[in-house]
Amino acid sequence: MVESTGRRLLLGVTGGIAAYKAAELVRLLLKEQFHVEVAMTAAACGFVTPATFQALSGHPVWTDMWDARAGNAMAHIELSRDKDALLVAPASADFLAKLAHGLADDLLSTLCLARDCPLLVAPAMNRQMWEHPATQRNIALLRQDSVQILGPDSGDQACGETGFGRMLEPEELAGAVAAFLRPKPLQGVRVLVTAGPTFEAIDAVRGVTNRSSGKMGFAVARAAQEAGAEVTMVAGPVAQPTPSGVTRVDVVSAREMLDAVMQRIGQCDMFIGVAAVSDYGVAQAREQKIKKTDQNLNLELIPNPDILAEVAGLPNPPFCVGFAAESENLLEFAEAKRRRKKLPLLAANLVQHAVGAEESELILLDDGGSRVLPKAPKTEQARRLLVHAAQLYSTRMQRKGKS
Ligand code: C5P
Repeated sequence: MVESTGRRLLLGVTGGIAAYKAAELVRLLLKEQFHVEVAMTAAACGFVTPATFQALSGHPVWTDMWDARAGNAMAHIELSRDKDALLVAPASADFLAKLAHGLADDLLSTLCLARDCPLLVAPAMNRQMWEHPATQRNIALLRQDSVQILGPDSGDQACGETGFGRMLEPEELAGAVAAFLRPKPLQGVRVLVTAGPTFEAIDAVRGVTNRSSGKMGFAVARAAQEAGAEVTMVAGPVAQPTPSGVTRVDVVSAREMLDAVMQRIGQCDMFIGVAAVSDYGVAQAREQKIKKTDQNLNLELIPNPDILAEVAGLPNPPFCVGFAAESENLLEFAEAKRRRKKLPLLAANLVQHAVGAEESELILLDDGGSRVLPKAPKTEQARRLLVHAAQLYSTRMQRKGKS
C-alpha cells in the first residue's frame, strides 16, 4: 500500500455498533492523505476485529497497554507523540465519561490523557443515553477542555429508536477532521455571505424568483468557516442545511436581503455576494391571491437594489467578492461587471454548467488578471476561492498597515 505523506492521525475506536462505520472512515481518511493508525478498546474488538483495521490502514492495530512493540514499553506516550490529532470514533457514552473525568484504565483512555495534540470525538449511542443529564454534563466538561465534539446526528438508530445519538456519517467525519487540521488563513476575519435566490411576491402565493440551489453560497460559507473566519450568511429561500458554526439569517426578498446585509456590514471585513438576487421586484404585490381569469395579466416589474454594488460603493467598504453567472462571452462580461461594481475579486462561471450542478468550473478575475479553477465539486471550488480571497485580503491589509 502507498504510504501517505500527509498529516498523522490516531483513530481510537470504542465499543459501539457504529464501530463498523469506523472501517469506512479509515478508507476515507486515507483518501484525505492522512497517515492513520488505529487503537481499539477491548469492547470495540467485540464489534469489529483489529484485522479489519490493520488491513485498511496498513498498520498494526494497538489494543494493549503492555504491547511490546512500543520500544520503551510506553505505548500510551509514544503513540500520541508523532500525531497531529487524535480522533475517537465512535466514542461511546462510557468512554466520554472516562475522558471527561480523566480516567485512564486502558490504552486508548491513557493515550487521550497523555496526548499533546488536539482531540476530536464523534459520540455514538442510543438517544436516551445521549440525552441523559450525565452524558450532557460530560460533554460540557469536554468542551471546556477544548475537546472538539463532532455530532452526533439524528435519525434511525441500531436499537430501533429514532433521535439524536447516531454517529456522523464517515464522509462527514473525514471532512470535519480534514477541515479542522487545514491552515486557517481567515482566522479572526469576519465574513458576510449572501446565498440562494430571492423571491419577489406577486400575491399571497405567487412570485418571481431566480434559479439557484444555494449550493455554492453554502459551500462558500462553510469554506470560510473552515478557514477560521467568523461567518454570517444571509440566505434566500432555499433547502440547504446550515453549515456548523455559521450564523444564518433567513430572508425572502431582495429588499429584505439588502436590509439584513446593511445591518451587519459595519461588523464585517469581507463580503461575498453569491446570492442569485432577482434583478426585478413586483411594483405592487397583492396581499390576497389574485383570482384566475381568462384575461391577460400584466405585471409591472421594478429594478431591485444591487446589494453587492451598494456594499462595494460604501465609503469604507469591506473586501468585496462577487460572482457572475453568464450564458455567453464569459470573460468579457464578467470583467466588465467586476470593474463596474468596483470589486477586487470576482468568480465567473457559465450558467449552463453551474445552476444546480454539484461541480463547477470557475474563473477568478482580479487586478492581477485571471486564473482558471478547473472543474471540481463546489465544496472544493469554494475552498480554492477562499484561499485566493484570503491572499488578496492579506496583501491589502499589509498595504493599509504600511500607508
Ligand atoms: O446579477 P449579476 O450578474 O449582476 O450578479 C453579480 C453579482 O452581484 C453576484 O455576486 C450577485 O450576488 C450580486 N448581486 C447583488 N444584488 C443584485 C444582483 C446581483 O448582490 N441585485
